[in-house]
Amino acid sequence: MLKGPTGCGKTRFVEYMAWKLGRPLVTVACHDDLTTADLVGRYLIVGDDTVWLDGPLTAAVRAGAICYLDEIVEARKDTTVVIHPLTDSRRALPVEKRGEYLVAPPDFMLVISYNPGYQSVLKEMKPSTRQRFVAIDFDYPAPEVEAQIVAHEGGVDAATAQKLVKLGGLTRKLKGAGLDEGAGTRLLVHAAQLIARGMAPAAACIAAIARPLADEPDTRDALDDLIAAVF
Ligand SMILES: Nc1ncnc2c1ncn2[C@@H]1O[C@H](COP(=O)(O)OP(=O)(O)OP(=O)(O)O)[C@@H](O)[C@H]1O
Ligand SMILES: [Mg+2]
Repeated sequence: MLKGPTGCGKTRFVEYMAWKLGRPLVTVACHDDLTTADLVGRYLIVGDDTVWLDGPLTAAVRAGAICYLDEIVEARKDTTVVIHPLTDSRRALPVEKRGEYLVAPPDFMLVISYNPGYQSVLKEMKPSTRQRFVAIDFDYPAPEVEAQIVAHEGGVDAATAQKLVKLGGLTRKLKGAGLDEGAGTRLLVHAAQLIARGMAPAAACIAAIARPLADEPDTRDALDDLIAAVF
């Protein structure tokens, strides 16, 4: 279970882990309409026949892949329970419609991620789901590391990257004072990419950082002031 603010590198971490371990990665973006059949699989009618199509979870179990359920809290609780037998000592996925009991190979891994902090009460994970995972807390990287990431991913020089990281840090202080969350590394990379393509830094920061973060006039002004102070 990877917990942390948006755009701090959770998905990137899973992608890197899959690459490093040489395992296939199956990512599912969870949403409220996601059904058990979407995860496990369903029969489809093809001409006069019915054919079974594995869902991403079943396919990942068969392949011994890493299955990554992104934003798990968005899925309905009755959907999430399908992972219960897979994530306890049974390590198996019952595929009821096929009468199949699929035991996961040792290589199979299940990773879930979510952003704690601003979920509504309706969108909490059941304790019985949470307590099946080992958790890693994610946070924004240290400023020097984040500047390297922004320079590398955004294609800007070190000095510009450092300014963007400084701005990011200032927006994070507005958390709770107008913002649910400050600018993640992702937004800093977006601003850097605009700058690298020739946009003036202040304009790039307004377009890529300030406007996506806030609608409320006072908060927008506060962000614009921060940008003016840094660039
Ligand atoms: N630690 C990192 N190393 C390299 N790139 C990073 C890192 N953190 C963030 N990034 C950059 O920011 C982008 C967003 O990161 P990522 O998608 O991993 O965030 P996330 O934590 O999964 O966010 P969300 O909760 O919104 O899904 C990446 O595409 C990458 O460009
Ligand atoms: Mg992600």
